[in-house]
Amino acid sequence: MGAPMPVPTPTTDAGTSLSALLRSATRAAHSSAEREPFVEQLMRGELGLDAYVDLLAQHRHVYAALEHADGLLRADPESAELVVDGLARSAAIEADLATLLGPTAARPRVLPETERYVARLHEVVGRWVGGYAAHAYTRYLGDLSGGQAIKAVLQRSYGLPAAAVGFYTFATIPKPKPFKDEYRARLDRLRLDADERVRVAEEACLAFELNADVFRGLGRTHRPSARG
Ligand code: HEM
Repeated sequence: MGAPMPVPTPTTDAGTSLSALLRSATRAAHSSAEREPFVEQLMRGELGLDAYVDLLAQHRHVYAALEHADGLLRADPESAELVVDGLARSAAIEADLATLLGPTAARPRVLPETERYVARLHEVVGRWVGGYAAHAYTRYLGDLSGGQAIKAVLQRSYGLPAAAVGFYTFATIPKPKPFKDEYRARLDRLRLDADERVRVAEEACLAFELNADVFRGLGRTHRPSARG
């Protein structure tokens, strides 16, 4: 993992909403995550299905760490707004892996990059509502955005059935756009002063960096093969 990325825009304006700040602060990191070779190759259908299964296996650890404190977060009125029914992905990941690998097969090993991501999640989730907001924003809004494009590729290029792409299927959120707008409004209602909003944006930049590191780790193992 590289050094934490500084928030690249001036952010002391007390009027900047958290959601606007998160979007602008992570714009560059988002572009580079999309351009990671592993991501580009996956989106072009150039990798074997084992590469996607490996990504999902890393997600299993990430989401377990992101979601382990959901009960605690729901108990606090401030963070409860961010823990929305139907967002949690852990159960869907387990079900997808059971479809793809079988219920009892060994899961792919956890990468060191994933271990670092998980360690950071354990440091903040359940301890700092702003940190939870940064990580929930990065993963869940991403799954509801580019994730939907990844789902289409998985179905088209690998012929995956619905039972294998539950991770990208939000049964209780049929329309991502209004949901994302509502989630941004909830982020904006957190009672954070300008300094803390900057810290949250920095944490989101770190979250993107941790995701990019996992892609690079996966890229060490999975390369495009000469698929028919
Ligand atoms: C295949 C790669 C990806 C594609 C094609 C993609 C595409 C997109 C698109 C089109 C949006 C805009 C949706 C909208 O305005 O409603 C979006 C938003 C977003 N993406 Fe991605 N994305 C990719 C990878 C990622 C990754 C790796 C992450 C983080 C781990 C991520 C996190 C986000 C977040 C947090 C948003 C919401 C931005 C906001 O509204 O503030 N994306 N993505």
